[in-house]
Amino acid sequence: MISTRAATRGSLASKRASAQLLKSFNGLTTSTTIGLRPSFIVVHQFEPIATGRRNFTTTPNPNIKEFFPKKETERVRRTEAAWPHPVYTPEQMNAVVVAHREAKTYSDKVALIAVKVLRWGLDLATGYKHDKAVAMNKKDPAAANQKYAMNERKYMIRNVFLESVAGVPGMVAGMLRHLHSMRRMKRDNGWIETLLEESYNERMHLLTFLKMSQPGPFMRLMVLGAQGVWFNALFFAYLISPRTVHRFVGYLEEEAVITYTRQIADIDAGRLPEWEKLEAPEIAVDYWKMPEGHRTMRDLLMYIRADESKHREVNHTLGNLNQKEDPNPYVSEYKDLAKPHPTKGLAHMRPTGWERSEII
Ligand SMILES: [Fe+2]
Ligand SMILES: [Fe+2]
Repeated sequence: MISTRAATRGSLASKRASAQLLKSFNGLTTSTTIGLRPSFIVVHQFEPIATGRRNFTTTPNPNIKEFFPKKETERVRRTEAAWPHPVYTPEQMNAVVVAHREAKTYSDKVALIAVKVLRWGLDLATGYKHDKAVAMNKKDPAAANQKYAMNERKYMIRNVFLESVAGVPGMVAGMLRHLHSMRRMKRDNGWIETLLEESYNERMHLLTFLKMSQPGPFMRLMVLGAQGVWFNALFFAYLISPRTVHRFVGYLEEEAVITYTRQIADIDAGRLPEWEKLEAPEIAVDYWKMPEGHRTMRDLLMYIRADESKHREVNHTLGNLNQKEDPNPYVSEYKDLAKPHPTKGLAHMRPTGWERSEII
């Protein structure tokens, strides 16, 4: 509970804590992960203590009003997810790995640079110095861990922010392809549904995290601002070069897989004790059809990471295709079923995407 903790330290301590927090939203988890690429960062500001408001907190509080409680109606018993989630087996989810697709073409390089620039901007905005973190880790791992390590609250803040922007690209791409198909009076070849489903899936990630946390006004403002800029940037980028945007999303999803892999590793290493006991909320159990006995926070992160790996694969694959002519390989039926091919689930995973010559 950020505001309560800060309240006990006074305003000076709160300032120091803010500065500390800004520096520490860096994607580094522990001294052991300091060599990895940093993920995206969230800026968060504390609310003055006297108001007693919770700008962003993840600490359970029985007084928190539920964000979006179930609405009882006279006739409706339940509302199922409009896009049922494919079932993932534990073996498939365990097989998800961190991966990077080499930037081969000019368009790939532009996409990778865009991801790097975005990360650099966020690093700068939050005062995070990756090199400093690495250097400090070499000299004093304990101090580096204290200064840069992530905890449940920081991870949750970042997850909420990232998921709130992750649901935008699929919706923009789906919308533009929808309009293009009508405007040009041409078939879309099945891309729209996959793109919209991706943004739906990302929104389910966000709603799930929101069931476990409560963003305050500052976080809401940030999400609003980010969405305004992000949506418009993607809109114009997709009009100019859809292939580059798919590659860009593929690279972003590579980062997402890294982020969730770190969180899972931190739980396993006992660094996130609050999450060890945390149960997945009902919305997640229903959506992912999480089996009984496998409904912990760790299980939930395994599902979410698997989803991110799927987005990574889908977007890298779409980035390899002819944007105007090719059918969506994720909803296509294949002539030779014995050969591995893209699927909606986790069968035949291809972290860096399928090449066009393999599937079209
Ligand atoms: Fe996500
Ligand atoms: Fe994603």
